[in-house]
Amino acid sequence: MSELLINAHALDGLRALRDESFDVCVTSPPYFGMRNNRVRPVEWPGARLGACLLEAHAWVRDEQPRTKNARQGSTEVVKNPRLTVVPPPNPGEVCAHCGAWRGELGQEPRVSLYASHLVRVFDGVRRALKPSGSLWLVLGDSYAGSGGSGGDYWPGGSREGQARVGRREPSGALKAKDLCGVPWAVALALRDAGWFLRSAIVWNKPGACLNWGPDRPTSGYEFVFYFSKTAHPFYRDVRTVGDGTCRMRDVWTIPTEPYKGAHYSTFPRALVRRILSLALPVGGNALDPFVGTGTTLLVARELAPQGAHVGIELNADYVKQAQERPLLPPLGVLFEYP
Ligand SMILES: C[S@@+](CC[C@H](N)C(=O)[O-])C[C@H]1O[C@@H](n2cnc3c(N)ncnc32)[C@H](O)[C@@H]1O
Ligand SMILES: [Zn+2]
Repeated sequence: MSELLINAHALDGLRALRDESFDVCVTSPPYFGMRNNRVRPVEWPGARLGACLLEAHAWVRDEQPRTKNARQGSTEVVKNPRLTVVPPPNPGEVCAHCGAWRGELGQEPRVSLYASHLVRVFDGVRRALKPSGSLWLVLGDSYAGSGGSGGDYWPGGSREGQARVGRREPSGALKAKDLCGVPWAVALALRDAGWFLRSAIVWNKPGACLNWGPDRPTSGYEFVFYFSKTAHPFYRDVRTVGDGTCRMRDVWTIPTEPYKGAHYSTFPRALVRRILSLALPVGGNALDPFVGTGTTLLVARELAPQGAHVGIELNADYVKQAQERPLLPPLGVLFEYP
């Protein structure tokens, strides 16, 4: 039995892991357009990979001004004093030579760029998975241009979970108020990159009340995409109905679980428990490259105490919270950024 927390950018942390050593990856990255994780900007390689091998990147500001309200073109006004602790949005920078992007995951100006960054992360995950391994990706959607007018985006606030940054794709492809379709854009990009897309599970969140404005139905679900590395992953069928005749279906009703710490996008243990009971063999190893406060590790230890479980997290405060979560004895921390 062992757990390890790696305090690093996911792309760097994944490089430290051995090939074909994990049975399952359960994870939820920062969502597109949601600015609430407060991590430092990190580098994402560009398309012209070799261009900056011998010289430094030539960083220029990314083209999309983040503080503009997409509809009115006005500067965002933050009225809630609690939001003043959040630094101004980092617009991100691109390298004029190699096309690398430097910024916070989720703050990319285009869905396609966000998806390409996740493809990179999950390339690293795929390498670290055994041939029988699977990836379970929890992902929600966001609206273009929504939430630019301030308001309470903190837990319990009327705009909790909404994108706080007005955004419209430079190409004009997305208009303010459009549903971005992020989960499917990411799922199809991952499938194109070689993953087997096995299932798109709807995680129905009863009680979720995000008050997304009066002009559309309030969203009450997210996706759990199930991918496998090969055509024959480990999958333990779980019978769900009393007499054991009904196989696991693809709509899961699981309430969100309140979390008392400073992190506000933890997923409920019941969701992770359901996934791991399907996909983690006895004594198997679990991985989460965006581990936040350690929910995946917590449940993996409960279900597979003999396994070795690894979480990667960029924000050192969350690593500390993960170490302090009940039931988890102190975890090893591999390397820390200043
Ligand atoms: C949606 S949260 C995950 C929460 C987690 N499932 C839990 O239950 O606590 C996404 C996490 O990814 C982290 N993160 C953001 N960018 C990252 C990066 N480049 N590498 C690693 N972690 C990152 C954020 O700090 C945040 O904790
Ligand atoms: Zn460069």
